[in-house]
Amino acid sequence: MSAQSVATRHNLKFVDPAEFSPQFAWHKAANSSGEEVFCEGVSLRDAADRFGTPSYLYSGAAIETAFRELHKGLGSLPHTLCFAVKSNGNLSILKKLDRLGSGFDVVSGGELEHLAHLGVAGNKIVFSGVGKSREEIRLALHYRRRRKTAPTGVLLFNIESEAELGVLLDESSRQRSGGRLPDISIRVNPDVIAGGHPHISTGHHQHKFGLDWAAARELYRQHRASKWIRWSGISAHIGSQITSLRPFRQAIRRLSGYVHELRELGIALNYLDFGGGLGVRYTDQKPPARGDYARMVARMVEPLGVHLLLEPGRTIIAPAGILLTRVLYTKANRDKNFVIVDSAMNDLLRPALYGAAHPITKVTRGRGEGIGDTRADVVGPVCETGDCFLRDWPLGNVKAGDVLAIWTAGAYGMSQASNYNARRRPAEILVEGKRARLIRYRESVEDLIRGDVLA
Ligand code: LLP
Repeated sequence: MSAQSVATRHNLKFVDPAEFSPQFAWHKAANSSGEEVFCEGVSLRDAADRFGTPSYLYSGAAIETAFRELHKGLGSLPHTLCFAVKSNGNLSILKKLDRLGSGFDVVSGGELEHLAHLGVAGNKIVFSGVGKSREEIRLALHYRRRRKTAPTGVLLFNIESEAELGVLLDESSRQRSGGRLPDISIRVNPDVIAGGHPHISTGHHQHKFGLDWAAARELYRQHRASKWIRWSGISAHIGSQITSLRPFRQAIRRLSGYVHELRELGIALNYLDFGGGLGVRYTDQKPPARGDYARMVARMVEPLGVHLLLEPGRTIIAPAGILLTRVLYTKANRDKNFVIVDSAMNDLLRPALYGAAHPITKVTRGRGEGIGDTRADVVGPVCETGDCFLRDWPLGNVKAGDVLAIWTAGAYGMSQASNYNARRRPAEILVEGKRARLIRYRESVEDLIRGDVLA
C-alpha cells in the first residue's frame, strides 16, 4: 500500500493469504474430492450460501490472538491497549474486545456513542481527533457508562490545537460536575517520516496532525496550573501501515526527550499515548511481528515510568477479516479478461482510494488445481473505471456463481463502506469455532431511502 505498490498493481505476484492468515486455511472439502477454505471451523462457501454476498466475515480467534500478542509483548509495563474504533466499529467486535480487556480510541462523538451503547467504562476511552467539536467535547466530559450511573468522563483527551484546548477549558469550567479535572494530553508531531501511503502518513510537520514540540511545550507551560484541566499525558500517532520498527523507535526517542523536558518544567505526566500504525501483510509486505513491536516499545518506554497507551487498529482486525463476494460474470475485451463480482468500491474502498492491493482467491478448488497463467481484472459493478480490486490478477478458472475471498479486509473495510450507486452496505459475520453469526444485517432498500425527505 506504499506509493510504490500503486504503480506495481499490474502483474502482482500471486499470493494466497489462506497460507499466512491465522485461523484461515484450506481443508479437504466435505462433499467433493477438492478443497475449500475454512475460517476456524466454518467453510467460507457455506457462509456465503447462508448469509449471501457481499459479506464481511471475521475470525473471533484471530482477533483474540492478535490482541493477546500485543498485550503479552508489553509484559509488565503498565499499559492499556485502546483499539482504534475507526478501523472497525461493529458493536459485536467492540464487545468482544471489551471482554478481552481492551480500551478504545475514538475520534468522534458517534464512536463514543457506540461505546456508551455497550456500557464501556470511561476510564478505558481515549478521545483523539484533529477537530473535536464543542458538542463532542461536552459529550466526552459527561461520558457515563450507563444511563443511571454518574458521569465519569473519559481517560484522556488528546488535544491537537490551542483553539481546541480553549474550547475544552471553556466547557470544563462551565460543566464540570464532581471534583475531577479532565485529563488532557497534547498530540505532538514528532516530525518522523513513516511508511504507508501518502494519504495515511501523519507524523511529519507538513501534515495537519498534532502540534510542533515548541508550540506544545509552550501550551503545557502556560496551563500547568489550570483550574480546569490536568496535564496527564503526551501523545503521538505517526502513521498507519508502517512496516518497519525504525520510525517507531525514532518517534519514541523524541517523545522521551519531551517527557524529560516537561519534568524539568515541573509537569509530571502519567500517560504516554503512542497511537497505532503497525502494518500488516497484504501481499509481499514483511511487517514486524506484533510481539517484537510491543517488546521494543515496552523496552523504550519503561525507563520513563509512565503508563503506556497504544491505539492499534489494523494489526488487530485487518488479517482477521475477509470480504466474501461472488462472481457475477466473466468477459473478455480483445486480450483483456474481466471478472465482474458482486462487491464494489462502495463495499471496500481501499483499492480505489489508496491503490491498495488485497489478494483475491477462490474459496474452493479441485484436487491439484492451480491458478494457471490467465490474468484478469477483478472489478465491481459500480460505474467507474476505478472500481477495480486488482488488475491482471491470476485468479485461475472462475465462472459465474463462484465464491471469492477478498483478503485482509477487516480494517477500514466496512468502516469506510458507503451507499454509492445506491448499493446496500454488506452484512457482517463473526465466526467463533464452528459457529458463524450474523453481526450486522445487509442493509435493506428501506435503509437506503430512510433519511431522504420528499420536498
Ligand atoms: N490512532 C490514531 C490517532 C489514528 O489516527 C489511527 C488511524 C489509529 C490510531 C489506528 O491506526 P492503525 O493501527 O489502524 O494503523 N483508512 C486508512 C487508514 C487510516 C488510518 C487513520 N488513523 C486505510 O484504509 O489504510
